Amino acid sequence: MNPDSQNVTDYTNNNTIFMVWSFKDNLEVRDTFNQVCSLLINLNNSANVRFPVSRASCVMGIGYDAWLRLGLPVPLPKELADFAPIIGDKHTAVSSKGDLHFHIRADNTSICYDMASAIADILAPVAISIEEIHGFRYWDSRSILGFVDGTENPHGQDREYFGILGDDDPVYKGGSYLFVQKYVHDLTAWKGLSTEQQEKVIGRSKSNDIEMADEVKPSNSHIALANVGDDFKIVRDNMPFGNMSTNEMGTYFIAYASTFTTVQKMLNNMFIGSPKGNYDRILDFSTPKTGSLFFVPTFNMIDDFSS
Ligand code: HEM
Repeated sequence: MNPDSQNVTDYTNNNTIFMVWSFKDNLEVRDTFNQVCSLLINLNNSANVRFPVSRASCVMGIGYDAWLRLGLPVPLPKELADFAPIIGDKHTAVSSKGDLHFHIRADNTSICYDMASAIADILAPVAISIEEIHGFRYWDSRSILGFVDGTENPHGQDREYFGILGDDDPVYKGGSYLFVQKYVHDLTAWKGLSTEQQEKVIGRSKSNDIEMADEVKPSNSHIALANVGDDFKIVRDNMPFGNMSTNEMGTYFIAYASTFTTVQKMLNNMFIGSPKGNYDRILDFSTPKTGSLFFVPTFNMIDDFSS
């Protein structure tokens, strides 16, 4: 593990707060950003000392527009850009704004809450919180759709290999691309399917999470289309969320990758289809409401920014 990288390769935890903030127009924001950088280092160090078994961490990603506005180093990370929507015949991966993304994880909601609150205290005068999702571990790591989510994630050293930039972009080595989408599920339609039909949508069995054999796995199942080959993987840590009063149940999709191209390949397969038109059946029950790309610098870079 690159000791300088933020905690992007950590394994999933029980509680998460995802926050997206956008800077207000026409304000000087660099001083505030510098304070956030110092705070981020402080929060992570402090959590390690105070709650070592909680595996608490906070990862910060920076969007393309913010990178320019803050006057961060140029050239930029090679693939950092505004996410361009992917428009399929039936479903669209929308693009949404966001300057800073925070991915807060802990086994305990109190730690997540305190980290989020400390960040909000600093940012609130100059930025607006445009998304805040409180994700939770649902049973044995299931999505709200009822299927285990995360099984085919890379393990061990592969997490670093697929999740963190290497020598391809030496200036930003140790950093990571971060892509997020907030999906809302149509649970009424989903629950209208039999378990067997749901399994064909995902490509795995529901109760015991076994992958279907290739001969029976539908070509438009989620895992058939999201699997783009053994050399192209990403580190996912999706979390379910649910709110009964707004009837908004969903999955916050989050991926860290050494190259955004891999995420793009998966999204193209899912939304455009492979072959074209054979899109991911999961999208008939799941609509992305957001979609943003960020870059996660190393702690050293964050430390440089803060001074
Ligand atoms: C696999 C759920 C969106 C990439 C899976 C699995 C589930 C799942 C249940 C099977 C278990 C596992 O290996 O993790 C979801 C849900 C989504 C979503 C509920 C949102 C509605 C996405 C997106 C991508 C993606 C947007 C990529 C951009 C993958 C990959 C796998 C996977 C790479 C492993 C495929 C394999 O090698 O078998 N997902 N997913 N997923 N998903 Fe998703």
